Amino acid sequence: MKNNMLLWDETIFRDPIVLELDYLPEQFMHRDSQLQSLIYSLKPAVKGMRPINCLVYGPPGTGKTSAVLKVFEEIEAHTSDVVLVKINCQMDSTRFAVVSRIYRKLFNIDPPSSGVAFRKLFEKIVLKLIEKDKVMVVCLDDINYLFHGGHADEIMYSILRAHEQYPGVKMGVIAIVSDTGKLYRFDPKVSSVFLPEEIEFPPYSYDEVGDIISSRIQLAFYPEVVPEEVREKIVNYVDVTGDLRVGIDLLKRSGLNAEKRASKNISEDDVSRAYESSRLLHLRRNISSLTDYEKKILRLVAENDEIKAGKLYELFNENNELGYTRFYGLVNKLKDSHYLDVSFSGEGMRGRTRIIRLNYPADDVIKCIGG
Ligand SMILES: Nc1ncnc2c1ncn2[C@@H]1O[C@H](COP(=O)(O)OP(=O)(O)OP(=O)(O)O)[C@@H](O)[C@H]1O
Ligand SMILES: [Mg+2]
Repeated sequence: MKNNMLLWDETIFRDPIVLELDYLPEQFMHRDSQLQSLIYSLKPAVKGMRPINCLVYGPPGTGKTSAVLKVFEEIEAHTSDVVLVKINCQMDSTRFAVVSRIYRKLFNIDPPSSGVAFRKLFEKIVLKLIEKDKVMVVCLDDINYLFHGGHADEIMYSILRAHEQYPGVKMGVIAIVSDTGKLYRFDPKVSSVFLPEEIEFPPYSYDEVGDIISSRIQLAFYPEVVPEEVREKIVNYVDVTGDLRVGIDLLKRSGLNAEKRASKNISEDDVSRAYESSRLLHLRRNISSLTDYEKKILRLVAENDEIKAGKLYELFNENNELGYTRFYGLVNKLKDSHYLDVSFSGEGMRGRTRIIRLNYPADDVIKCIGG
């Protein structure tokens, strides 16, 4: 056997856990000013005061979630008087799911599963905080998934105005928006009380990506597994997408590709083959959280390039029985989550027809829906 071949029980991974997406890096580079802003905003909470609310925004894979978790970790090591809750709004995408998650964190048990209104659960939470004299910080991660249907406004409103109804309660919010701009406008009754510290996570520069990827390589692989040209290729890919998650996923998949060939080093070819899957990482992750109805709508738009709303409804209802209002509610949700673009055509005597288009390449969407 050639000596650059792996034996059966050998591996090129020194510590594969550091390539998992939920791994919280010990070394968190190039985000000092953002971490400082978060600490500054949450410091009052540690002193028993209401924290300063934050709006954290930036494109996917720029370290927003990790930064908040790092700061939470530090506070938790320091005090138990601050209750920190991180909510993944993609998973918990209704006001009831969010409040249940908060309840679980505070009471360590599931909330009563049925027949309890959002308001009632929220009140129990607030009263408990007052009784125990604790401060609560709720991080609504990927809050964009709560925008449709008014869930985000309702939750923000409840938390931010809680002290008006329940004097003495101390709650704050960190809203994380995964987006390049701050496109969403909260309802006026929210924005009149939500005057957040705005913390921007811009895309990492080429050199910053290089640093972060290099340090992850050192942790993840044995020495010399990743040659310089391979490292560079990965950094270049990350630079195109701007998403560090793609880079970390690429490291994992190319490592597995190398092992599959029983090779002791990763080749450029291993990376190229891995890229096809990594590139669509985000889209796939997002689409997998959609309902079957929503996926069906996306698929139909993908298959039709651009399509009139009426025609889409017709195709959709060939094998579904859904009223137009519900159907159009789903289209709106997909628009709010930036999958679809809806515009009006002024053409024709009948005037305004809604034209629906995909915001992503059709092939990519079909690939990610799968099946
Ligand atoms: N400064 C950094 N140093 C080390 N690792 C980082 C850094 N920034 C991001 N990462 C890594 O990149 C990946 C993506 O980061 P994270 O999940 O925090 O991004 P995000 O901005 O929340 O993305 P999204 O908007 O898609 O939720 C994580 O695996 C994280 O460990
Ligand atoms: Mg995130």
